[in-house]
Formats: sequence, structure tokens, C-alpha cells
Amino acid sequence: MTELLTVSDLAVSFGEVRAVRGVSFGVAEATTLAIVGESGSGKSLSSLAVLGLLPAQAQVTAGSIHWDGRDLRACGADELRQLRGTDIAMIFQDPLSALNPSLTVGYQIGEMFRRRRGLGRDEARRRAIEAMTEVGIPDAARRAGSYPHEFSGGMRQRVMIAMALALDPRLLIADEPTTALDVTVQAQILRLLRKRQRDGLAMIIISHDLGVVARTAQSVVVMYAGRAVESGPVADLYTVPAHPYTLGLMAASPSARDAGRRPQPIDGYPPDGAALPTGCAFHPRCPFARQRCRTEDPELRTVAPGRTSACHFAEEVLSRGGAVGHPRA
Ligand SMILES: Nc1ncnc2c1ncn2[C@@H]1O[C@H](COP(=O)(O)OP(=O)(O)O)[C@@H](O)[C@H]1O
Ligand code: SF4
Ligand SMILES: [Mg+2]
Repeated sequence: MTELLTVSDLAVSFGEVRAVRGVSFGVAEATTLAIVGESGSGKSLSSLAVLGLLPAQAQVTAGSIHWDGRDLRACGADELRQLRGTDIAMIFQDPLSALNPSLTVGYQIGEMFRRRRGLGRDEARRRAIEAMTEVGIPDAARRAGSYPHEFSGGMRQRVMIAMALALDPRLLIADEPTTALDVTVQAQILRLLRKRQRDGLAMIIISHDLGVVARTAQSVVVMYAGRAVESGPVADLYTVPAHPYTLGLMAASPSARDAGRRPQPIDGYPPDGAALPTGCAFHPRCPFARQRCRTEDPELRTVAPGRTSACHFAEEVLSRGGAVGHPRA
């Protein structure tokens, strides 16, 4: 399958802080990739880099980003702006920060059609209402006249999705699209995204919850301290993880509760990008750690067909089988 987006060995730094340290991932047409990991692992920066939306102090220091054969690192700001929305769209965790509080929602969605498609006011308004209806906002014609603060969290996220999908992008990057929402609303938003997937939309979903990932993606990249520590097909990875960190994430997933277990957080905290542990960055928290782990940084390597792991003892982890259970909700 040819990839739409291919990111290779991407590195992002804030001065001394190496926030992303050589991450590779790809998404093929009509497929969904999940990027998972605890807060601070570099998930958002990896996706913001694709669209040229990194904070001003951040710098891409290495790697390549290709979209449909085009080298995005070589594109200027105008070219990237042109790509955003029409080819690649993004939704953020906090929809309020992405919406203008002083303009009605209908106007903001309509503006996409006016500016990018050159539609007139009435036609743009009609399309905005249509887009709102499509994402399940009731009474859209009336709600189009409301301001962002007049919507609930779940409805605001729907507005963001309507805006992101307005111009029929080929790829949607959804950064923790359901994190701030309660379980019922989360399920509604995931259903909405899954419908679009069935219609052929490619997606990158970013989450810290493996349960969300299991319900939306075909393949996963697990990130820790700015690196990919495991990747592979969702079904394989959930049956038998190949990295101790993935085992830990599975046990910590809120969806573990559905499998009758109490979520068990991973001991300790992710490291600071300015003071990474020696050897394997996960070793201070790893129940499998041995002497070698303190001195030797494990390479990401193929450990089974289609699967990679950055652990010296991946084979041992794999041979445990799915002892931790299945976080699929
Ligand atoms: N605006 C910023 N200024 C300085 N450092 C930042 C900034 N944003 C992110 N970082 C650094 O990059 C790391 C990864 O950030 P991010 O990609 O947002 O993580 P994630 O999305 O996985 O929670 C953070 O832990 C932090 O060290
Ligand atoms: S290399 Fe060692 S410390 Fe790192 S994940 Fe594997 S066992 Fe744990
Ligand atoms: Mg993030």
C-alpha cells in the first residue's frame, strides 16, 4: 500500500531539550495510525511538525516529511497553509483555544468555504449548516448563530470536526480528540470519526488511552521520551506487547476497567527531555530492567513480522504472551 504521509527519523528540539528524538511513522490511504504515550512523550510535536505548526521556539533538527510525494520540509509557509484543511486537517484537544470566541460558529465554519472555496455568503452559510448537521449538531440552522462558549464540550468538539472536515481533507490528524470529554460523549465522537474512516478518510489519532486506539486504528506507534519504543498492527500489539512500556500502558489504560481490572498506573514519571536517563530512557521505571539497560540504549528493531521494539529483552516480553490482558473496550 502506498503511503500518503511518510515521516522518517524526525527530531524536534527546544534548544537543549530534545523533545522528539528520531521518530518514524507513515499512513496509507484510508487507514488509521495511532500514536500513543504518556503526556510529554512528543506526540503533539511530531504531528505539529508535519503541518509546520510547531511553536516558534521549536526546531525540526533532523528527518524528512513527505506528503503524497512532496517534501514538506522544503515547503514554504504559504504552501503549507494551502495544504492545511484541503489535504491535511487537524483537530486539537482543546477546541476552545482553536475557535474565535467573538465570532459565531456558523460564521467560522462558513469562512472556510468563503476563503478556501471562494463561495459567496449565503452559499457558505448553507454549507456550514450542512457540515454541522453532518456531525450530529441538532438544530444546526439555529445553532450556527451561537458563539463557541454557548456549546458544551462535546458539541464544541463536533464543531471542530465539522471545520476540519469541511474541505474534504484526505488525512485528519486528531490530537486527543476525546480526552476532555465524558465517556458517553467520547463514544459519540469516536463513532463519528469511525463513520468518516469508513468513507475513506485516513487518520492519525493521538491518545494516551489504548482503549481509544483499539477502537479506531489499524496500526500503532508507542512513544516514550521522544522516541518510538514499539510499533505494529493494533491486534498483534494488544495480544502480545513487545515492549515493557506498552505492557505498562495497557495496565494503566482506563479501559482496563472494562476487562474487570483496576487501572494500574506505571510507577514514576516520564523523564525530562533535558536530563534523559543513560542507556534505555525507560530503565528507571521498567520492571524488566537489568544492568545492560542502564548503559546501552536499545535500537528500535524488527522483532516479528511488521513489528518493532526498542527493548534489549523484547523476545522475553513477547514470550510472556498477553498476560496483562486486553484493553479493548
Ligand atoms: N512550548 C514548549 N516549550 C518548551 N518545551 C516544550 C514545549 N512544548 C513541548 N515541549 C517539550 O516537548 C515535550 C513533548 O511535548 P508534546 O509533543 O506536547 O508531548 P505530548 O503531546 O506527547 O504530551 C514536552 O515534554 C516538553 O519537554
Ligand atoms: S531495554 Fe531494559 S529498561 Fe528498556 S524497556 Fe527493555 S528491559 Fe526495560
Ligand atoms: Mg499532546
